[in-house]
Amino acid sequence: MIKMTHSGWAYIALLILIVAFINAIIGLTSNKEFKDKDLRISLFTLIIAHIQLIIGFIAYFTSDYFTSLVENGMGATMKDAVVRLFVVEHPLMMILAVVFITIGFSKHKSKTTDKAKFKTIAIFYGIALLLVLSRIPWDHWF
Ligand code: HEM
Repeated sequence: MIKMTHSGWAYIALLILIVAFINAIIGLTSNKEFKDKDLRISLFTLIIAHIQLIIGFIAYFTSDYFTSLVENGMGATMKDAVVRLFVVEHPLMMILAVVFITIGFSKHKSKTTDKAKFKTIAIFYGIALLLVLSRIPWDHWF
């Protein structure tokens, strides 16, 4: 159940992150005004990412990979590429991605120009998107 929720919510999380990033790039390059719609897209991305983070933590501690970590220890975990991905690489990168989204959202609020707002979102959400894309378990997802 948790695994399915985490897997399904990931589609929404990835999609809204891509939309928010592209929206920020368009706003930045075409010198648009930072409107309510832009704030909402950035905010929804933040909320959806945080929900995915919480579901991820539950998925982590209830997964077979965590059981394997407890039973076999970190040494054996690091030697197995699949277990290492789920126990170490995926969670760490995703947590980092959510940290970038959170900092980006928080920083954009203090910016005084529309361009600076779009730029902050583009940079921080862009880095987050790269981190997410780099460690999504593609082979297991589809
Ligand atoms: C933006 C954040 C995240 C995204 C987009 C994401 C995405 C995904 C995807 C697509 C899968 C594969 C699901 C499948 O096999 O169908 C997965 C699996 C998994 N994720 Fe995440 N995840 C995120 C955050 C996290 C976090 C923060 C943790 C842990 C703290 C985590 C732990 C796991 C675990 C343990 C699995 C394997 C579940 C299992 O097969 O038992 N994820 N994640």
